[in-house]
Amino acid sequence: MKDQVVLTGIKPTGVLHLGNWAGAIRPAVELSHKSGLKAYFFIADYHALISSKSPDKLREYTYGAAATWIALGLDPSQVVFYRQSDIPEVFELNWILACFSPKGLMNRAHAYKMQMQNNPTIDVNMGLYAYPILMAADILIMNSNWVPVGSDQQQHVEITRDLAHRFNRQYHTEVFTLPEALMSLAGVVIPGLDGRKMSKSYDNTIPIFAPPEQLRKLIFHITTNSSGIHDRKDEETSTIFQLYQLFSTPEQMEVLKIQYQTGIAWGDAKEGLYSLLEAQLREPREHYETLMKDPQELERVLREGASQAREVASKTLERVRHTLGIRR
Ligand code: ADP
Ligand code: TRP
Repeated sequence: MKDQVVLTGIKPTGVLHLGNWAGAIRPAVELSHKSGLKAYFFIADYHALISSKSPDKLREYTYGAAATWIALGLDPSQVVFYRQSDIPEVFELNWILACFSPKGLMNRAHAYKMQMQNNPTIDVNMGLYAYPILMAADILIMNSNWVPVGSDQQQHVEITRDLAHRFNRQYHTEVFTLPEALMSLAGVVIPGLDGRKMSKSYDNTIPIFAPPEQLRKLIFHITTNSSGIHDRKDEETSTIFQLYQLFSTPEQMEVLKIQYQTGIAWGDAKEGLYSLLEAQLREPREHYETLMKDPQELERVLREGASQAREVASKTLERVRHTLGIRR
């Protein structure tokens, strides 16, 4: 049987944080080790352009994202790992799909709708408005079956499915594979320093590869309540507990549970979380730092991935052009 295709992308708009790791990177890397699957992971740098207008930052975050994925276990010899902007076929398909995308569907798309709700007078750019179409092109060009994403991106995958279906129906073809979203943590939201969702938009993140002193300092900034050492502590509302849970073994978790019932100083709980994370991050951090010092090597890896990705992309595009009646 043919391998099922799993594909996901990450937007390089900031330094990646623990929420990105546990919510997106880790489950995708785990999936990439499974047999019977062909994985395509990419850095969605043109998606980042809807908000990022600094060339230095865009470059830095793109290499940063590539180095982070590799340091956290992505093996570029097993996964096709590339940069969106290196695949010109994606942008041709983007236009084609735009011609099949009802404007009303875009009005309802989550990223655009949220911006309009937050600030109705904002001058939205067309990149944000058409964001789901480019995402659909990313997904459909590689014939993806599965798209691991966080809950915020689920609607975009549904829009992709909808566009693929419309196109197939109109041309009586099956040129596009209908993709499905794969929700790794079943909608679990990883909390940040202030207890809200960890997100760069809230400035409450713990960067994955913060140096040890900064990591410790940030963990000590996590908001806690005023309960004393001997008070029983509530697991559900404790950010420290929830973060610990994401990175610990069941045995380590049992110990912390008992401490929450019998009493633990918040300082000790924070120290425990720091030790747990530092032990897991020390080696990948070194790997990350080595990679970041060698952008040429990162370039080589991404270009090698792009040449593999383009082989698939150009075939899909050829079939689509043929279907449309557009031939070279
Ligand atoms: P941010 O909210 O910091 O801008 P992104 O929207 O770029 O993060 O998220 C990239 C990926 O990481 C998405 O798949 C998203 O679902 C996941 N992710 C980000 N923050 C969290 C979080 N706090 N909990 C779970 N998953 C998250
Ligand atoms: N929109 C996604 C995000 O903000 C990133 C992305 C771009 C993506 N293209 C994709 C994710 C295709 C999955 C599949 O997180």
